[in-house]
Amino acid sequence: MGDAGDITLASYEAGANLYAARPYVMGEAMARYLARIAKLVEGGTILELGSGPGRDAEYLETFGVSVTRTDGALAFVEMMRAQGFTAEVLDMRTEQFNGTYDAVVANAVLLHLRRDEFEVVARKSRGVVSVEGLLAFTVKKGDGTSWSNAKLGLPRHYTYWQDSQLRQVLGSTGWETLSIETVVGSTADWLFVIARAN
Ligand SMILES: C[S@@+](CC[C@H](N)C(=O)[O-])C[C@H]1O[C@@H](n2cnc3c(N)ncnc32)[C@H](O)[C@@H]1O
Repeated sequence: MGDAGDITLASYEAGANLYAARPYVMGEAMARYLARIAKLVEGGTILELGSGPGRDAEYLETFGVSVTRTDGALAFVEMMRAQGFTAEVLDMRTEQFNGTYDAVVANAVLLHLRRDEFEVVARKSRGVVSVEGLLAFTVKKGDGTSWSNAKLGLPRHYTYWQDSQLRQVLGSTGWETLSIETVVGSTADWLFVIARAN
């Protein structure tokens, strides 16, 4: 079998239209979480990793922040461009992050990284935030890893995290964990994380 991240990204590339077409209603906890990020950033700038169809970016921008949309899958980038937004292909595992932002945001994205890749992305994110900048992301709570064909009918790889593991990796990559909220999910609970550069 090939690299789990490559397989997962290929599934998003092929399944982007299906992903975007699925009925979606932003949950209350997510709306609150994004609003809190926007408030902390206060009209500033956000680098979003794995924007997908760009729903979170659109919501965040209603609070007056400016979001740089990126995704590893060209299909999502083209989808956002077709909606009139600027968007760039950025494979968070292999590519350099450029610029300076008040926050890096990745909703339901870093859960596709191996633990060593997560550490690399946390470090790269630290390198592009301003003083007291933020890293905000959501992952699934649990142990180990799994493959799932749910929703896209194509394989996606997941790494599950416990609070203590996240705090440890964040601490060792230049972040202070501000909050980890557990939110009930359909197959596994979610961890909504906000960390600040230290
Ligand atoms: C579950 S979707 C979440 C999309 C969006 N954040 C949302 O909440 O709707 C995961 C996203 O991560 C992107 N992704 C997966 N692997 C990636 C990688 N290596 N680099 C950048 N984006 C990646 C996928 O293309 C997809 O858009």
